[in-house]
Amino acid sequence: MTARPLPEFCFFKWPPRVSSGEQAPPAVNVRGNWDWWVPSCSWRTPGVGCLDSLTFLAFHYGWIYETREFCALMFILDGQTVHRSVVFPRWFRFPFMARTDLQIGNIWTAPAFRGQGIATRAVHEVRRRFGDQRTLWYLTHAGNAASRRVAEKNRFDLVGTGVRKPALGLNLLGQFTITKKQDELQ
Ligand SMILES: CC(C)(COP(=O)(O)OP(=O)(O)OC[C@H]1O[C@@H](n2cnc3c(N)ncnc32)[C@H](O)[C@@H]1OP(=O)(O)O)[C@@H](O)C(=O)NCCC(=O)NCCS
Repeated sequence: MTARPLPEFCFFKWPPRVSSGEQAPPAVNVRGNWDWWVPSCSWRTPGVGCLDSLTFLAFHYGWIYETREFCALMFILDGQTVHRSVVFPRWFRFPFMARTDLQIGNIWTAPAFRGQGIATRAVHEVRRRFGDQRTLWYLTHAGNAASRRVAEKNRFDLVGTGVRKPALGLNLLGQFTITKKQDELQ
């Protein structure tokens, strides 16, 4: 029996650089409010399920995350969170990150509000908050065209593609590894 191929991920990187010279922030076609969430606000990461929220919290308070910046940016419309972008510090699953690097992940827009520029603007706002001094990462399934576009529109560099290798048969313990650098991609 042949092993199933591991799914391929795109690894995007924002090396720290000042973005103050940029033009106006990317437009959002719906009216709403941006709000930052931090773990002291509530135990539950906005829009994230109970189990994942509890895991995130345990990793934050248990110092599995290397630094203290675990947080999320929300876009709120009529009291509903219609978008979240979570900012994760480095942890063992992402050995390619340096200790103080951050990763934008668990990014989600409610289906009814997709294609309005919300995710693109959210990543822009995360860059504005952290990206002058910190390296940011953004990983996405290679086949997720909308998510890849969000990184590209924010001028992240595609540094390579790679896989998630399970450890001891468990995905949770597995590590993300870059297997093909950008210059090896066709
Ligand atoms: C990925 C996701 C967060 C994007 O959110 P969004 O708020 O719709 O993003 P934006 O409106 O900023 O649009 C991003 C770009 O993707 C494009 N896009 C949307 N759907 C697309 C598709 N199916 N194929 C190709 N491009 C697509 C948009 O047209 C836009 O590009 P453009 O401005 O050049 O036209 C959203 O699709 C989502 O929540 N998906 C499910 C969860 C997910 O896959 N998360 C990513 C995990 S890494």
